[in-house]
Amino acid sequence: MTAVCRKASPKDVDSLYLMIKGYAERGIMLPRSRDVLERQIDLFVVAEVDGNVVGCGSLCQLGNDLVEVRSLGISEGHKGQGIGSLLLDKLVEEARELQIPKIMALTYEVSFFEKNGFVIVSKEIFPEKVWTDCVHCSKQSCCDEIAVLKVLSE
Ligand SMILES: CC(C)(COP(=O)(O)OP(=O)(O)OC[C@H]1O[C@@H](n2cnc3c(N)ncnc32)[C@H](O)[C@@H]1OP(=O)(O)O)[C@@H](O)C(=O)NCCC(=O)NCCS
Repeated sequence: MTAVCRKASPKDVDSLYLMIKGYAERGIMLPRSRDVLERQIDLFVVAEVDGNVVGCGSLCQLGNDLVEVRSLGISEGHKGQGIGSLLLDKLVEEARELQIPKIMALTYEVSFFEKNGFVIVSKEIFPEKVWTDCVHCSKQSCCDEIAVLKVLSE
């Protein structure tokens, strides 16, 4: 059972919508509408096993030198098999290709990111994030997500 990572295409919108909705209902991810997914499909990567989408992730550019990992998730039954790391590697590779030197995430899955070379940092070092997205979030004053960062080049 080998996983293949690839760029998402418009035919993946339904799978992505359902996968992200499942996590959003558990408060793990922000929801994405089908409409938004259709418009932003180029930002997504997916992992496939036997032709079925079992994982996804996306990159959001926050500034000239920073991208954020978003919507990274692996479906139940496929976790712990290295597929999340494969997707994260692909997103890191994309950031490098875009010559963006820093990649960050806000997450509850700190150990996973640490195993993939990220370090814990203060959210406050990302004013691009705090003053664009976080200010609109209902959890702003009680955010329990941890910021993690990987520096790709100085
Ligand atoms: C976090 C997530 C994407 C990891 O995907 P995955 O395919 O299970 O991860 P991998 O199998 O590539 O794991 C890589 C390593 O991290 C470890 N790891 C994975 N999830 C972990 C967790 N929750 N806590 C601690 N370690 C974890 C694995 O044991 C593995 O270590 P190893 O290589 O020493 O065995 C997946 O668990 C998930 O979908 N979580 C829910 C959604 C979520 O919170 N996403 C993050 C949003 S930013």
